[in-house]
Amino acid sequence: MGEKTITILGFAGSLRKGSYNKILLRTAKKYMPDNCNLDIFDLEGIPPFNQDLEGNPPERVKEFKDRIKNADAILIATPEYNYSMPGVLKNALDWASRPYGENAFFGKPGAIMGGSIGMLGTARAQYHLRQVCVFLNILLINRPEVMVPFIDKKVDGSGNITDEGTLAKIKELVNALIQWTGKVKT
Ligand code: FNR
Repeated sequence: MGEKTITILGFAGSLRKGSYNKILLRTAKKYMPDNCNLDIFDLEGIPPFNQDLEGNPPERVKEFKDRIKNADAILIATPEYNYSMPGVLKNALDWASRPYGENAFFGKPGAIMGGSIGMLGTARAQYHLRQVCVFLNILLINRPEVMVPFIDKKVDGSGNITDEGTLAKIKELVNALIQWTGKVKT
């Protein structure tokens, strides 16, 4: 194993144990080359945002912010809830962006992906998320767009993605993010 030169922090906007979006992240981890590591953070335990606490946030939030700061890049896997990103995800982004001037995401390279059981594969959620990433100043890659429709039909009983096209897209996204991270770092 080579020396780890790039660390990417990945998180999914779902707390569900069997989350398809967590499966997307675990699949991305399999495609990390030897010199890269995907550190996966579970948003479980992050409470609803309360601005009274932003100066001294709960431990789980501190941990999240530290993991973001220690990462060279960010990878978000978002479900689509009611045509947007889940509140769990937006809430975590809000915490990590505060207090004003201490946005942990500022200037980090990033990529997004998502899967849903519907036919648009999180397209609407991803465009909302992209808008939020503008203000967070996460430097997102534009392509490939990994929007996985009917994802329930593309995963086997052991939580493996069985669809070759989806696997190829995830691999392409991982490689594009690593390349972009290298560019931003220099
Ligand atoms: C959904 N789902 C959904 N799917 C979609 O394609 N567009 C949508 O707008 C919604 N809306 C929505 C709202 C709520 C509250 C729930 C719980 C679900 C279905 C969604 O794609 C499905 O539950 C996925 O399995 C969620 O992602 P995870 O948890 O598997 O990662």
